[in-house]
Amino acid sequence: MYDEAENITFGKGMTKMTRTATLILDGKKYELPVHEGAEGEIGIDITQLRAMSGVIAYDPGYANTGSCKSAITFIDGEKGILRYRGIPIEQFIDYPNFIEAAWLLIFGRLPQKPELRRFSELLTVHAPLHEAMKHHFEGFPVNAPPMAILSAMINTLSCFDEHLARFEDDEKFEVAAAKLISKVRTIAAYSYRRSMGQPFIYPDPKLRYCANFLHMMFSMPYDQYVIDPEVEDALNLLFILHADHEQNCSTSTVRMVGSSRANLFASCAAGVCALWGPLHGGANVAVIEMLDQIHKGGLKPEECIKLAKDKNSGFKLMGFGHRIYKNFDPRARVIKSQCDKVLYKLGIHDPLLDIARKLEELALKDPYFAERKLYPNVDFYSGIIMRAIGIPLDMFTVMFAIGRLPGWVAQWKEQHDDDTMRIARPRQIYIGERKTDYTPIINR
Ligand code: CMC
Repeated sequence: MYDEAENITFGKGMTKMTRTATLILDGKKYELPVHEGAEGEIGIDITQLRAMSGVIAYDPGYANTGSCKSAITFIDGEKGILRYRGIPIEQFIDYPNFIEAAWLLIFGRLPQKPELRRFSELLTVHAPLHEAMKHHFEGFPVNAPPMAILSAMINTLSCFDEHLARFEDDEKFEVAAAKLISKVRTIAAYSYRRSMGQPFIYPDPKLRYCANFLHMMFSMPYDQYVIDPEVEDALNLLFILHADHEQNCSTSTVRMVGSSRANLFASCAAGVCALWGPLHGGANVAVIEMLDQIHKGGLKPEECIKLAKDKNSGFKLMGFGHRIYKNFDPRARVIKSQCDKVLYKLGIHDPLLDIARKLEELALKDPYFAERKLYPNVDFYSGIIMRAIGIPLDMFTVMFAIGRLPGWVAQWKEQHDDDTMRIARPRQIYIGERKTDYTPIINR
């Protein structure tokens, strides 16, 4: 229960309310402070709960737990709103510049021209990998999953730049952030080249971020890849749409690892591992596999919907549903509209897009999905755009990781700027054996 009282504003965008929540347990009352965020979300502060009462809060999956205060990204899942530093995601459609969005997320405001220029120059300077790092790729089997390579190589970066792994001041941090954001793209492209048995293509300092990535992916030593501006814009927008999503699984992982004071590179390498899972970033691969199965005649759209509703099937409609969105994922809305545009401009007809549209139509009018408020998420249409621009399926989740990196960097920085940061250490409710005695093996 809440006790209403006057609010007191403190700090940027936060209001500490004099109202409290009262917990009554075994007849005893405990007063818990209540916090209100800039957009009116209310959080009951349980930091002193155990000290006061001896009990803890139980919240598997953390669906009701605010793990931090953050000023980076705002989501209203009921209304389908997503904003970066206050700017609605849709407003980036006409300004598809991933690097500008990355700077915004990390440093809290849109950059001035000289700031953007400096950051872009840092990205250019730091695009090549240390020559010794190239040999590491040879140690992986040719068919190694690119997400495993990405995570391992991000960690390896800190071995080559040990001093940058320490967080000293904003300027040093900017260099570390630029190195990471720039090199991740080189690592991603090299892991693809390795899997194809093709020579590594060095980054070209004359090219912008996304164009340079496409060049490293698709140029040949004897044949320069021609960059289509439409494709470059589509890639910028795709990365922007993935750039941050507040305290999702991989970002929470980055913060969890970072809370032990592990360096930025190690924390982001852990984020890649969390993103890899099919319920998170890996869903973009699963969606295409599902659509492809339907296309090849292995499954009808109607059967797919039926399977997704059957709890015993173990099958889910991939690219549908979200922990936070109980309405259209605004990223899916943007990507869906961009799909039509990009495919039309590139003169591509992808039958998987027709199948995706059909599945969406069937799901949206089905009471199972309506009652559970399951809508297409970011992964439902993103694979169609990636296919159109020539990205191979096993690189899809890597693309998500390149896009998400500025968000991880921003969240890591915000965490480390926060004087109240503590190591993340949840508790548990133990349900195992009570005290039992050790039995020597001979007597078991
Ligand atoms: N297909 C069929 N049923 C579903 C689906 C789905 N895609 N998603 C949720 N449900 C059902 C679920 O079985 C449950 O039913 P019931 O109430 O009868 O037990 C109900 O909807 C609520 O779902 P939940 O499992 O409690 O939801 P969650 O918040 O724990 O999980 C999710 C969210 C995204 C993991 C889940 O919706 C899912 O597995 N979706 C498919 C995978 C996917 O597309 N993941 C990408 C997420 S967006 C990108 C990202 O952030 O990584």
